Amino acid sequence: MASIIELKNITKRFEEKVVLNDVCLDIEEGDYISVIGASGAGKSTLMNIIGALDNQYDGEYFYRGHLLKRREMDRYRNEKLGFIFQQFNLIPTLSAYDNVMLPYVYSALDNQKIEEECEELFVRFNLHNQKNQIVNTLSGGEKQRIALIRSIIMKPEIILADEPTGNLDMDNARLIRSFLRQMNEEGKTVIVVTHDNAFANEAKRKLRISGGKIIEDEIVYPLI
Ligand SMILES: Nc1ncnc2c1ncn2[C@@H]1O[C@H](COP(=O)(O)OP(=O)(O)OP(=O)(O)O)[C@@H](O)[C@H]1O
Ligand SMILES: [Mg+2]
Repeated sequence: MASIIELKNITKRFEEKVVLNDVCLDIEEGDYISVIGASGAGKSTLMNIIGALDNQYDGEYFYRGHLLKRREMDRYRNEKLGFIFQQFNLIPTLSAYDNVMLPYVYSALDNQKIEEECEELFVRFNLHNQKNQIVNTLSGGEKQRIALIRSIIMKPEIILADEPTGNLDMDNARLIRSFLRQMNEEGKTVIVVTHDNAFANEAKRKLRISGGKIIEDEIVYPLI
């Protein structure tokens, strides 16, 4: 399998504090990676860099062997990456549905098809009653699922999830887990940060971060 993302010698500092320390990581297309580690270890910092949300670091980021330049990052993020993050970046005064459809208002894509897909996803993620609700009246877990729908409807190649089940009940957490597994089975590369060990073991490869370094990198063998 070819490498889809390669990080070379990434060091991230906040002021004098080193939060990622010379991290090297090679991610193959179609892999499913979980990232675990204590609070403050640097997991979200790493995800922000992989997500091209933060380009203030030392080191190099390659996408399919191409060294990403700072000015290419926005386009790369919009076209290739889907996010399920703790902070959702939804527009609070619009409805759930309008938030999801916003990227298509001015696009030339087939809106009818997207609307149908959108309907299906709202049902799938138990949000059919919240479709027309204004976002700032939704619960945290509902907002997170809206953000998820918005990100996957764009059909990203790589899905990044930072504690996606952190504020969900068991049923909705299960939904997200099976959804990520399915996306991976369909060929997408998935990277998930979680504090839940059972969830982490659903991945194919598990990384442990401590003090800004990857201290373990193991293949997870399925139970059956
Ligand atoms: N903007 C910032 N300015 C200064 N320090 C920061 C900043 N963002 C993160 N840090 C520090 O970097 C370290 C790593 O933070 P990070 O958010 O990556 O941790 P994490 O592993 O995701 O933890 P958690 O499991 O609690 O989400 C922490 O010590 C944090 O305080
Ligand atoms: Mg975090």
